[in-house]
Amino acid sequence: MPGQPEGERPAHVVLIGMMGAGKSTVAALLGERLGRPVLDTDVAIEERTRRSVRSIFEVDGEDAFRTLERAAVLDALAAATPSVISVGGGALADGGGRDLVAGATVVWLRARPETLATRLRGDEDRPLLDGDALERLRVLGDERRESYAAAADIVVDVDDLSPAAVAEHIVGAVAP
Ligand code: S3P
Repeated sequence: MPGQPEGERPAHVVLIGMMGAGKSTVAALLGERLGRPVLDTDVAIEERTRRSVRSIFEVDGEDAFRTLERAAVLDALAAATPSVISVGGGALADGGGRDLVAGATVVWLRARPETLATRLRGDEDRPLLDGDALERLRVLGDERRESYAAAADIVVDVDDLSPAAVAEHIVGAVAP
């Protein structure tokens, strides 16, 4: 819960960052390495609504998606078992995110827009990237940089790292 004192909630690892940064892939690897459950807010939203992220954006609009996303983030953070939580790129991007994840270790997977665009070439699942994906990634990245930085305890520059190397780096930073 937001505002819950540190130490009274499990020390989740929360992965944040732009679309294409590798959050879901790294979360899966990290879950294996740390022996923790993996939670993914986009997956949770799709399971709960039985609809795709694209359909929710197109039919109900982005605000409706953000409401679902906020609930999914809170649900994930409320998990009793220390988990690895991958959140969609827009979660924690509005500046208020640090309070939401107080007590968790937040890792920002940071990447250049060019890296993200290359990785997401041909992707049809992300409505915010329709049109000129590289330009959209540049604009969104600029808008979100400060919020990601404010929320993050750890920053990993992932441009030249494999998902396994990113996971290894995080294990080194969070393992007791
Ligand atoms: C979004 C990122 C997506 C998904 C939705 C919106 C964003 O998740 O939540 O398309 O606003 O950056 P990923 O970051 O997992 O791609």
